[in-house]
Amino acid sequence: MSDKPWGGAFEQPTDQLLEKFSESVSFDHQLYAQDIRASIAHAGMLATVGVLSDAERAQIVTGLEAIGEQIAAGEFKFRQSLEDVHMNIERALIDRIGDVGRKLHTGRSRNDQVSTDFRLWIRDQIDSLDSLLANLQRAFVHRTTGDEGVVLPGYTHLQRAQPVLASHYWLAYCEKYQRDRDRLRDCRHRVNQLPLGTAALAGTTIPIDRQQVAEELGFEGIVANSLDSSSDRDFALEFAFVLSQISLHLSGWAEEWILWCTTEFGFLKLPDAFCTGSSIMPQKKNPDGLELIRGKTARVVGNLQSLMMLTKGLPLAYNRDLQEDKERVFDSVETVSACLELAAPMVAGAELQVESIAAGIERGHLDATTLMEHLIGLGVPQRTAHEIIGKLVGSALQQDCTLAELPVEEFQAAHESLGESVYQVLGTKHAIEAFQSVGSTNPSRVAEQVTHWKEKLDR
Ligand code: ARG
Repeated sequence: MSDKPWGGAFEQPTDQLLEKFSESVSFDHQLYAQDIRASIAHAGMLATVGVLSDAERAQIVTGLEAIGEQIAAGEFKFRQSLEDVHMNIERALIDRIGDVGRKLHTGRSRNDQVSTDFRLWIRDQIDSLDSLLANLQRAFVHRTTGDEGVVLPGYTHLQRAQPVLASHYWLAYCEKYQRDRDRLRDCRHRVNQLPLGTAALAGTTIPIDRQQVAEELGFEGIVANSLDSSSDRDFALEFAFVLSQISLHLSGWAEEWILWCTTEFGFLKLPDAFCTGSSIMPQKKNPDGLELIRGKTARVVGNLQSLMMLTKGLPLAYNRDLQEDKERVFDSVETVSACLELAAPMVAGAELQVESIAAGIERGHLDATTLMEHLIGLGVPQRTAHEIIGKLVGSALQQDCTLAELPVEEFQAAHESLGESVYQVLGTKHAIEAFQSVGSTNPSRVAEQVTHWKEKLDR
């Protein structure tokens, strides 16, 4: 009655509506290479434990490899009636090599097969995302050479706060993406555990050797509990979170640069190759790439939300709901990879508008905190020093001048220990040099960090 591999007990063919509704091959065909790899490892193990003869194993492997080549060449016809990539490949194998192919599914189920394939796929994606992130970090680090010595206003609340070296700014993003790379590496350990051998949910009575399959496929370990692994998608959610975090980092940066490219800021110019125009306003050069990086974050974070909702309230063990996981993860990987690919040349190609930045750098009393710390160094308690310098800032605001432009008498009147020495810490250049703490924007601290990053990323 049924052409389904599972059709034995069925008295009616599947309704067309259900068939179309429940298929996954339209998207999970992306797992074909992993599916074939895992099946080859499984067949090898079945031969080791005596379920297959060597000749049968060889026939299965040759058949699977040929199918893989056919799919890679775009010559394979996936059938919706066979639901998913797993059953399509298995059926093609049986069509090709006959009854021997019917032995491949011994000791496994699609439930552990799909989890194995998906983990293998995610593992590959983690590795390629890691190199995209390293490329982007390199783009940031290279900026430190061209922009050496440039001073930028640093912001909190998007209000001018303290001066920072441009190199310090570039390296801030290196740190963020390094944490993302570290997170990917952590996540990879949990992804890289073999579920195959779980079979449907309880394991199998066939004397399989899971360790052999794990070693063959490069898994670091074996999932211990079959009920757990049949239902587990933590690995996919964790990966989706790391992708969201990368996206959030990209989005904040994109927003910052959109602002920096405005006439109002005038800090940054994107090369024309990375701007788009307006169909009505001839003068426009818009940062659409940055806006889309910011915008696409919505779907990446949305995908994580979807996965969390998907797995909420699922009883043990496998439930078909879990089929909904793949498109969300595929989409996040594709989106984040494209954003990372675009971000690197934008970082490399953007030009800091050093003249206009320098022309405005003394606005906003960025050296006020340094002056306060100078006064603390002269023995004044912090709260008192804060108040005294606050009053001096108030006076500078009233006179519409910088702190360095106030006469020495005013400093002396503000506190007896203030005098000519204030001019050695005032002005953004002096202020930058006055920083001392580890991790600060002090030029020699930053230079150390630049060296550290150059060495780290060269490896
Ligand atoms: N296509 C399914 C998925 O992606 C494979 C597992 C199906 N298992 C089942 N018992 N129907 O989750």
